[in-house]
Amino acid sequence: MDVYEAVRSRRSVRGFLDRPLPSAVLSRVLSAALRAPSGGNLQPWQVYLLSGSRLDDLKSRVRRRIAAGDSGDQLPVPPYPTALPNVYAERLADMGERRYGAVGVARDDGESRARVRARNWECYGASTALFCYLDDGMLPPQWMDAGIFLQSVMLLLRAEGLDSCPQIAWAEYHRSVAEVIEPPDRYVLACGMSIGYADPGEPQPPMPRAPLLEVVTFLDS
Ligand SMILES: Cc1cc2nc3c(=O)[nH]c(=O)nc-3n(C[C@H](O)[C@H](O)[C@H](O)COP(=O)(O)O)c2cc1C
Repeated sequence: MDVYEAVRSRRSVRGFLDRPLPSAVLSRVLSAALRAPSGGNLQPWQVYLLSGSRLDDLKSRVRRRIAAGDSGDQLPVPPYPTALPNVYAERLADMGERRYGAVGVARDDGESRARVRARNWECYGASTALFCYLDDGMLPPQWMDAGIFLQSVMLLLRAEGLDSCPQIAWAEYHRSVAEVIEPPDRYVLACGMSIGYADPGEPQPPMPRAPLLEVVTFLDS
């Protein structure tokens, strides 16, 4: 698979088969992803991979919290700016329409939306999850480094016939993640990611992108 095909075929998969992943494949992907660039070559990512009984434990901890009406932990970083400029607010709303619309959930059906959203913490059925931490106090450039690393992981997974879903949603239950992983206190959970074999039966709405000239300005004269 060439890089274009890996980029084109990557999408956020929200339904995985219950099939374990060969650990050699995961090691190969992560070893290659470590080649991701980072400012000053800090390589600020600290990565944990969970599967088996540890991941089951994490899923049931969060399930219990949700069932008890616990709406989650204080986020280390808000997911979006409070005042989101219109163009981004529109894209966000469009994403929600497509995502929830694909599973027949209406915009005003809060209960069903919450149920669909809770699939995040079941890893959408995936049997492996990655958690990417950064040292407390890292700045936007290091968060950007982590994003570049995570995209490298996602593209390499495609080359192995695997899919993924990056999930900031895990930050909402970062205390439960920490109870299972027991990272050093100074680590901040930047992002989770479900990894696995896509379930071909899962409805996958294609997410559109803004046209080239809406986001790229060529200044060539
Ligand atoms: C940093 C980051 C965090 C995300 N968090 C979540 C999440 O918590 N749950 C989820 O289902 N999708 C999440 N996504 C997936 C986005 O919704 C998705 O990338 C976007 O809608 C474009 O769709 P595509 O990835 O299928 O092309 C996240 C993506 C990124 C890059």
